[in-house]
Amino acid sequence: MIQDARQLELTIFGPIKKRLMKLGFIGVGNIAAALVEGFSTPGASGPGAVSVAAEPGDLELFLSPRNEARSKALAARYPRVTRLESNQAVLDRSEIVILSVRPPVATEVLGALKFRADHIVVSLVALLKYADLATQARPAMAVSRAIPMPAAAKHNCPIALYRPAPVVEQLFARVGEPLVVDDEPQLHALWTLTGLITPFYDLLGALSGWAIEHGVAPLTANAYTAHLFQSLAALAQLDPKAGFPAFAQHAATPGGLNEQAGREIRKSGAHQLWIEAADRLLPRFG
Ligand SMILES: NC(=O)c1ccc[n+]([C@@H]2O[C@H](COP(=O)([O-])OP(=O)(O)OC[C@H]3O[C@@H](n4cnc5c(N)ncnc54)[C@H](OP(=O)(O)O)[C@@H]3O)[C@@H](O)[C@H]2O)c1
Repeated sequence: MIQDARQLELTIFGPIKKRLMKLGFIGVGNIAAALVEGFSTPGASGPGAVSVAAEPGDLELFLSPRNEARSKALAARYPRVTRLESNQAVLDRSEIVILSVRPPVATEVLGALKFRADHIVVSLVALLKYADLATQARPAMAVSRAIPMPAAAKHNCPIALYRPAPVVEQLFARVGEPLVVDDEPQLHALWTLTGLITPFYDLLGALSGWAIEHGVAPLTANAYTAHLFQSLAALAQLDPKAGFPAFAQHAATPGGLNEQAGREIRKSGAHQLWIEAADRLLPRFG
């Protein structure tokens, strides 16, 4: 299938690199809107941004009519974005089709669409397995799954991908860091981590709140906390080979603040609570 995808891409994009790439969205909700913003703005900006610097001028974006308010607003905001009258019209005008509806309606939506063999289909739908997607998107040959995040709007998120055609990987590199996994269990493991966003912000909120209780102005405490942890993650992001234990060890000067807090929090089992929460989320992917 990957081989098919590469051949297909060469056929479609190889000889005509300079022309517009036509990208369609079926379902214009939170994540589609973030991607539309990311694809419609120049890359590589903001704290920790990792995307390639790409001008959006070589993309043409087509939106399905739902959500009406959101698709109209995006089309009004970006010159290369057009809202079409139906889901099928989006397919008919697009080369790459991004499926961004919620899981309960995905099968019904796909069932009503007529794909072409040369469509490149990318599903963002959490619970739609690759085999079912490939069957429902027939005769489209190049089918993949992706997990972009809302920070794609700011060109700053990881995007886990399963079986992407090379052009899909290049496309997502405009809005973040594409990371290709070899199988669906890996995709589901990474998807599970996206379920830990709320506890992560809860933790930052608790720490910022602690600083506020100790007299720091709320805006300063929030900005400091967000920037502190963003900058620590950014260092680890730049050097994934090093591994997190090496960063933890490097910060843990004997007798210092980090050595003390690291020891106490590890001993409390606090990390294990996060692992156990992830363990309980994973089965949702089936
Ligand atoms: N949000 C994230 O961070 C994120 C990240 C990765 C993957 N995903 C996946 O992306 C998908 C969308 O998530 P979301 O958060 O963007 O959800 P959402 O905000 O609810 O967006 C879903 C959109 O689909 C539209 N829709 C409903 N029925 C439709 C139909 N028959 N034809 C065309 N459009 C239809 C909805 O329009 P109405 O408003 O008119 O109903 C809505 O605009 C989900 O499968 C989710 O698993 C989301």
